Amino acid sequence: MKMLEIKGGNPLNGTIRISGSKNSVVALIPAAILSTEEVTICNVPDITDTSALCEILEFLNVDVKRATESLVINSVNMENKEIPSMYTKKLRASYYFMGALLGKYKKVTMALPGGCSIGARPINLHLKGFEALGATVTNKDNIYTVEAKDLKGANIYLDFASVGATINIMLAAVLAKGTTIIDNAAKEPEIVNVATLLNNMGAKIRGAGTSSIEIVGVEKLGKCFHEVIPDRIEAGTYVILGAAVGNNLKISNIIPEHIEALTSKLEEMGVFLDIGTDYIIVSSSKNYKPVNVKTQTYPGFATDLQQPLTPLLTMCRGRSKIEETIYENRFMHIPYLNQMGADIRVKTQTSTIIGPTKLTGTDVVATDLRAGASLVIAGLMASGTTRITNVEHILRGYENIVEKLLEVGAKLELKEV
Ligand code: EPU
Repeated sequence: MKMLEIKGGNPLNGTIRISGSKNSVVALIPAAILSTEEVTICNVPDITDTSALCEILEFLNVDVKRATESLVINSVNMENKEIPSMYTKKLRASYYFMGALLGKYKKVTMALPGGCSIGARPINLHLKGFEALGATVTNKDNIYTVEAKDLKGANIYLDFASVGATINIMLAAVLAKGTTIIDNAAKEPEIVNVATLLNNMGAKIRGAGTSSIEIVGVEKLGKCFHEVIPDRIEAGTYVILGAAVGNNLKISNIIPEHIEALTSKLEEMGVFLDIGTDYIIVSSSKNYKPVNVKTQTYPGFATDLQQPLTPLLTMCRGRSKIEETIYENRFMHIPYLNQMGADIRVKTQTSTIIGPTKLTGTDVVATDLRAGASLVIAGLMASGTTRITNVEHILRGYENIVEKLLEVGAKLELKEV
């Protein structure tokens, strides 16, 4: 098990370069197997979620070559086998193999996906989409089999604009016969990135990034070269860190529009941001004003950033509120922040942060990925030493987090315990 020891309280200065997006690459890797030729994906982050998906590819006899920042995936010798839970439980995004294998072979058998415990996270909308395309779904002892004689384009309305369901249905529909329309589709930038990969491979997808996506089925997908977009959640996490303890901290290689909901909230608090075309420079200041935040689907305030934002709100004079509308159980970082000296109350789906309070280092646990990011920020703000266990959650989604933070002057060490 790994533990992160942070000695907090010193200002951070320099540049943090943002890596490729976790939530894009975890869909791009399964999407690549739809091609009958080689697919090269560059700007691939070196995180454990990427490795877990590459293990699934290798299990399916797909040839994967990893270079410094790229992956070359060739599925010519691929075998469509049942994917057991030892592979699928490592991450949520293993479910993208459902859409991809169903699209390619018209049959997939795999165990339930894993991922952070932040709510019930059902996959009913994915399955309804597959059924609308003509597939039947059976579930025996948590092993799903989804199969179809033929997949036929259909009109699908999503009851909720789910990121996973939108991408999975696109993956299943690109090789189907006829036209599929997904209405109330999710609009996240990761969806546009996946649609662009598929179109580069020869698919016919229009409207990705809007709430109506049209997919005209094609017979075959081919070779392509594709780049992962910068990770907007990693970018947002470090911008928040800069507002807490930055001294001209530059967050580079980003697409600022992707985190506009965050940056406008920070500006409302009184954070001064120098926003360039592909960077943001941020410094900490005093007398931040409290704010109210409500998580929403894109382009609203990202649920993945509400946990990292929470420790910063302990600096505001007055009561801030965060209403979480996407997941039922995304407040597991709060008891630990309170142990560090915060005054935060959670009632139903809303946390109220009463400030300002000073944070002091103590022993805490990263219960999930973004809770972990929240505790890293809190540890860097706090006086004294913070020890975070269950760091494996953080390493699933933040490339070289320790190296990146050391580079800008943070004092921290990753230890085996
Ligand atoms: N939902 C259903 N039924 C479904 C699908 C979703 O009820 O069939 C519900 C979920 O339970 C949840 C809500 O809809 O309450 C949103 O789920 P969505 O499908 O949009 O999320 P996801 O695809 O499971 C992705 C990211 C999450 C991110 C959300 C929202 C990946 C691998 N995960 O999850 O990322 O929070 O979109 O933007 O792309 C993270 O990075 O920490 C993370 C959790």
